[in-house]
Amino acid sequence: SEEEVCTKSPSIPIYACQRKTPVNHLNHHFTCALEALAEGAEFSESDGRALAFRRAASVLKSLPFRVAKIEQLRGVPCLGKHSIRIIQELLDLGACKEVEQIRSNEMNKVMKVFMSVWGVGLKTATRWYRDGLRSLSEVRASPSVKLTRMQQAGFEYYRDLARPVSHVEADTITAAIRALLPNSFITITGGFRRGKDAGHDVDLLLTHPDEGGEVGLLSKLLEHLNEQGSVMFQDYRDNTYKETNAAGFNESKSTMDRFERCFTILRLPLSPRVTSHKDDKVTGRQEVNEAVTSHYTTNLRKKIPEPGERAVRVDFVVCPYSQYAFALLGWTGSQQFERDLRRYASHEKAMILSSHHLFDKQQVRVLTISHTLH
Ligand code: CTP
Ligand code: MN
Ligand code: MN
Ligand code: MN
Repeated sequence: SEEEVCTKSPSIPIYACQRKTPVNHLNHHFTCALEALAEGAEFSESDGRALAFRRAASVLKSLPFRVAKIEQLRGVPCLGKHSIRIIQELLDLGACKEVEQIRSNEMNKVMKVFMSVWGVGLKTATRWYRDGLRSLSEVRASPSVKLTRMQQAGFEYYRDLARPVSHVEADTITAAIRALLPNSFITITGGFRRGKDAGHDVDLLLTHPDEGGEVGLLSKLLEHLNEQGSVMFQDYRDNTYKETNAAGFNESKSTMDRFERCFTILRLPLSPRVTSHKDDKVTGRQEVNEAVTSHYTTNLRKKIPEPGERAVRVDFVVCPYSQYAFALLGWTGSQQFERDLRRYASHEKAMILSSHHLFDKQQVRVLTISHTLH
């Protein structure tokens, strides 16, 4: 069995990208506790500590057995003294004081609520907390709070966006988008590609089998979706992958990629809404949007929404076919997997991995998957 293999060969790789991290693993009891501590550390901006807890949780997910005795963890990498102490206490007592404290800590609870709003990250949540705000209604009532456009949408569609997106919904959206762009390749990425059966959004990667054929795809798609009144919110950014050095390498230090993309809130179902006259397009769209918005607010207050009707977060990313492999890898996650994949490339292979390409520091050249391969 796998268990025997593991006990016989205790050498578990130190990089998450060299291990299996199944969605359904056997150590949730421990990983949830360690992740709660990681989150607490992130809220108090102790990034090193947070990373140590994340790594400990990650390695436990790879174990093909349920940890029952601390001795089973001998030789398992990525487990610091602190994490071992937490696991030990969970084994001995079934609960851990430090974890319970974090879970009931007021700042942690408030930060979690703030960050449950789309567009609110650590920075904004911390500022609100420091300003003495303790609930979402206080945030909304505060005259000093300036919301970004994204945060406004986050509040407006709060209830719908808090509901997990199901696998069926994700597949239905993907199929509808494919129907709108029949000659392009559309791949579902993010959590759903990792086998999760629910997510907070749908991540779609768009490309075209002919290099350059991807240009204009997203604009065309957004135009269609806006015409049928499906777009509740869009935050579009054009491709900024231009500034490369002599070796063709983009030196940006950021782990953010430079692809053309659009973060949206779409209204389901994505069935076409016929607007009566082509000339009425803009007016028609506004009417539809207003009708949908008021429909939602009244429905949420009074009745259950009609089945299948809801707002959902959908992220679109566009890449040229030559970068497709790297974009797919970069947009599949998880965060820990991506982090370790980049660390592995850098520390073990002297290469820099991004969602665009692999840069070989020794050969001083960019390695791409040539489109002649297909
Ligand atoms: N990603 C990225 N740059 C961003 C946002 C996301 O490269 N600005 C990548 C990350 O690698 C991430 C993936 O896209 O793993 C999907 O991001 P996200 O939707 O935030 O997370 P999921 O893993 O899909 O989790 P969930 O199911 O909650 O959506
Ligand atoms: Mn520690
Ligand atoms: Mn996602
Ligand atoms: Mn996403």
